[in-house]
Amino acid sequence: MRTTIRDIQMMRDRGERIPMITAYDYTSAQIADRAGIPIILVGDSLGMVVLGHQSTVPVTLDEMIHHTRAVVRGTQKALVVGDLPFLTYTSPEQAIQSAGRMLQEAGAQAVKLEGGVHVAPIIARLVTLGIPVMGHIGFTPQSVNQIGLRVQGKRANEAQQLIADALAVQEAGAFALVLELVPAELAQAITERLRIPTIGIGAGAGCSGQVQVWHDLLGLYSDFLPRHARRYAELAKTIADALSQYVHDVRNGLFPGPEHSSRIDSAELAAALSNIDQTT
Ligand code: KIV
Repeated sequence: MRTTIRDIQMMRDRGERIPMITAYDYTSAQIADRAGIPIILVGDSLGMVVLGHQSTVPVTLDEMIHHTRAVVRGTQKALVVGDLPFLTYTSPEQAIQSAGRMLQEAGAQAVKLEGGVHVAPIIARLVTLGIPVMGHIGFTPQSVNQIGLRVQGKRANEAQQLIADALAVQEAGAFALVLELVPAELAQAITERLRIPTIGIGAGAGCSGQVQVWHDLLGLYSDFLPRHARRYAELAKTIADALSQYVHDVRNGLFPGPEHSSRIDSAELAAALSNIDQTT
């Protein structure tokens, strides 16, 4: 049975911290699912860590659907949340189309979208139609060209706005709220004022759960590690070492070995060769 948004709420109500991770393909989704991660986000961060863009802004809905399908195929238990990319939820009608595709074509169980008070009516409309929505406030990467890459809510007026945003997203019916790059004390204050779970990234330990980007957590995106990430593995190095060994083995005739090949009976081969040799 897949994790449901009700299960996520029950985890929060029991005081169980909620781990969430991004994934973008079948194989990684399968690993995350088997590791017992209850929520997998197909984040539009795929634009940066998978597609090599400078930001999430160029990511399209078709790209998100393509990757979300693969993640859904790789999972049996996790709740799969598909990110709605930039400019795909500018009106309730457009949001219904986009979120509808994410659920019907890609098979996600929920969508995530960025913004607070101003997107609350859009969230409310989706929720009314039976589409579970995860909110996302604080640093919202799709607005990087407007707000810059920085911690949000350090001044009283900004902090007050974030609290208003969080409450608006909750009242609109979102089942959870991502808080990205928000001071830890403020994230905790927001968490204490909400009934729904908060999922932090760069927002301290006082949130109901944490989300991390696959490549940051596993050391795959080796040129850069955000301050809020901890590397639990150094996979870029492990992979590079394995590839160097492979190159060495191929160059030196050490791979493939006899155990990697199949055999033909010598009489069968001799017969085939003599037939060929007679006809040429
Ligand atoms: O796109 C993404 O990966 C995200 C997470 C950082 C929350 O939105």
